[in-house]
Amino acid sequence: MQATKHAESDPESNGADAHGTDAHGTSAPGTSDTASDAQYDFMVVSNRLPVDRCSPDEPGCEDGWRRSPGGLVTALAPMMTKTDGAWVGWHGAPDEHVQPFSHGGIDLVPVQLSTHDIEFFYEGFSNSTLWPLYHDVIAPPEFHRTWWDSYRKVNRRFADAVIHHANPGATVWVQDYQLQLVPKMLREARPDLKIGFFNHIPFPPPEIFAQLPWRRAIIDGLLGADLVGFQRPSDAGNFMRSARRFLGASVKQQQIHVKGADGKTTHIARAQAFPISIDVKQISELARNPEIVERSRQIRRDLGSPKTILLGVDRLDYTKGIRHRLKAYEELLADGKVSVEDATLIQVASPSRERVEHYRLLREEVEGTVGHINGTYDTMQNTAVRYLHHSYPIEEMVALYLAADVMLVTALRDGMNLVAKEYVTARTNNDGALVLSEFAGAADQLKQALLMNPHDIDGLKDTIMKAVNMQPAEAARRMRSMRKQILDHDVDLWSSDFLSTLEEKVIRDDS
Ligand code: G6P
Repeated sequence: MQATKHAESDPESNGADAHGTDAHGTSAPGTSDTASDAQYDFMVVSNRLPVDRCSPDEPGCEDGWRRSPGGLVTALAPMMTKTDGAWVGWHGAPDEHVQPFSHGGIDLVPVQLSTHDIEFFYEGFSNSTLWPLYHDVIAPPEFHRTWWDSYRKVNRRFADAVIHHANPGATVWVQDYQLQLVPKMLREARPDLKIGFFNHIPFPPPEIFAQLPWRRAIIDGLLGADLVGFQRPSDAGNFMRSARRFLGASVKQQQIHVKGADGKTTHIARAQAFPISIDVKQISELARNPEIVERSRQIRRDLGSPKTILLGVDRLDYTKGIRHRLKAYEELLADGKVSVEDATLIQVASPSRERVEHYRLLREEVEGTVGHINGTYDTMQNTAVRYLHHSYPIEEMVALYLAADVMLVTALRDGMNLVAKEYVTARTNNDGALVLSEFAGAADQLKQALLMNPHDIDGLKDTIMKAVNMQPAEAARRMRSMRKQILDHDVDLWSSDFLSTLEEKVIRDDS
């Protein structure tokens, strides 16, 4: 799939500020312009573009932009570079118009979000309605008609950007819960397109999805796609049950017959699980890099060379089970099962959605608990929990994975959890233990992890101790088997599986 660029890029443009664009949205030196009428045969659409703004003195900053961290980006960036397609998404700055440009070999088509859109579409409907609803209502979802209105309008804007830039017959891959109406909007305007959608987060059972006042419109929006992908077979099953229940759709063997206003079948959408993975090559290479190995040793020395380092790495999100993990660890300290002399828990909590109330409350709670634990158990030399409210570049993350004897992934609900897969991939010596929640999608693939229910604090404590005391032979047996699973299923396979299923399906339907 090659992009047809009707206009050539201009790498020499000048006059930009530190953020890569000037007031008129022209590119910084080194970023190439992509003409605003360029057309593509392959387009990825996600709420965020795979870049963040940065200032030149920050590490990894090129021309005012930096490749952004996160599962979605990790998953799709390698494929975008290979296919020479275009990526449509929000550039992260409110109220700012940025012209299409190119960064790191990827053509980017920015979509503008106003301060109002951010409040109503992003923080509101996406992250205070859909996010909690799709994650087992761990926090109560809020339903506001004004938020829904904004969700529809912003989805329309993303769809229009694709409609403008897609070549006839192009393949369009829409990503995640923020953009569930885009597939239908594309199909209505451009029936020539091949449309795929992938939901990175869980899809709830119909009994929970039923709460959503706009449940029919969401299912209808998704059914605009030829192929709707999910992390787990149970997510695909939930979606098909909802399609049947709320739209009366006929569903047979993953095929959903979609009917138009006249009651006639317009097309058949397929729903299927495609568990996402990671860039195995990148993580493996970093894990073997002598500088990163040395950095991991330095981390251990900096912590006073404890016998055991435990590690948690999460966005600071209430779905991740950070409170449950801290509670279990505090009780282990109180029971004398672990001591600050022998063990340290490193908790990396990367800042996330900080203006949303539930996230603000979570931060206060987590930081209060960490302060309490450390105040009670720290000594002058040793600390119980090393809490880091930062995001780190992947190099530092891999050094942390190498330093950690035990990785704690205690999500209460998680679409996949790529941190678990990164940890396993980094353990090239087949040592280390992964404690993994059975409510993370990754548990479907990593069956040799120490699986547990994070709501069961005693069970969680026992599992942590089992990981701390695991004999090297058992650790190696488990790690080898998990590593094989991931090495055989990296992110390239995920994307090529999805795209070839989409192509085959469309060809079959047309013939
Ligand atoms: C999850 C979602 C992504 C989202 C990411 C970061 O992984 O599935 O769609 O981009 O979280 O969240 P944010 O709200 O910062 O984009």
